[in-house]
Amino acid sequence: MMKRSGNLIVLEGLDGAGTTTQAMMLHEYFLSRGKKSYFTCEPTDEPVGKLLRDALTGRLSSPGTGKKITFSEKARCLLFAADRQEHSLSIAKVLSNGVNVICDRYILSSIAYQMLDSSIPPEWVIEVNSGCFVPDLTIFLDVAVDECLIRLKDRKNRPTVYEKKSLLEAIRKNYKRALPVYEKHFGPVRRIDGRGAIEKTHKAVIAEIESTFPS
Ligand SMILES: Nc1ncnc2c1ncn2[C@@H]1O[C@H](COP(=O)(O)OP(=O)(O)O)[C@@H](O)[C@H]1O
Ligand SMILES: [Mg+2]
Repeated sequence: MMKRSGNLIVLEGLDGAGTTTQAMMLHEYFLSRGKKSYFTCEPTDEPVGKLLRDALTGRLSSPGTGKKITFSEKARCLLFAADRQEHSLSIAKVLSNGVNVICDRYILSSIAYQMLDSSIPPEWVIEVNSGCFVPDLTIFLDVAVDECLIRLKDRKNRPTVYEKKSLLEAIRKNYKRALPVYEKHFGPVRRIDGRGAIEKTHKAVIAEIESTFPS
């Protein structure tokens, strides 16, 4: 593994849990404290990431038949893994320059979401993601599905195929089931209660960061 001096911090949670909001606030927090920070997210803005975004928001169609393409969970898993292998290389470069990297979703999302296909075991997801950079800390924002759905209603972004009560309930269970096996391969996970106001959750995130990486 390449020597690095920045920390890779991953934010995880259901759609609507606030991962993007909190990841960006953490990035701003580091900058305001004079620390180097880089915000990034998955799927990425690179070609495979864009393909995934289009598929997950119903904007991809077959060039031949015009039929909508959303991909199976297995295909999504492999596309996410390909996007991430490339992403991981650029993350490694940034980290090696002493910059903290805040990543909005990473391998734990792949495990929790792709396990919706009951024939996909977490071990397979881990296998296809092997070689990806191991985070220093993963923060799981815990928010109940009903609260996530309320938040998502007011959002301007196009909804993804996952933004349904039944699917989010299943993904929430998958997150909990996946935590022990994920931690064995990809480092510690801290659960943070994300039900409260944005500023309150931000304070809890900062407290966790300060205790994990004392400056
Ligand atoms: N703690 C919170 N309380 C209320 N609304 C929130 C909270 N965190 C985020 N939101 C709002 O919920 C929506 C989804 O947040 P976002 O950060 O995009 O979630 P995610 O990236 O996890 O899907 C956004 O409109 C955001 O402003
Ligand atoms: Mg988001």
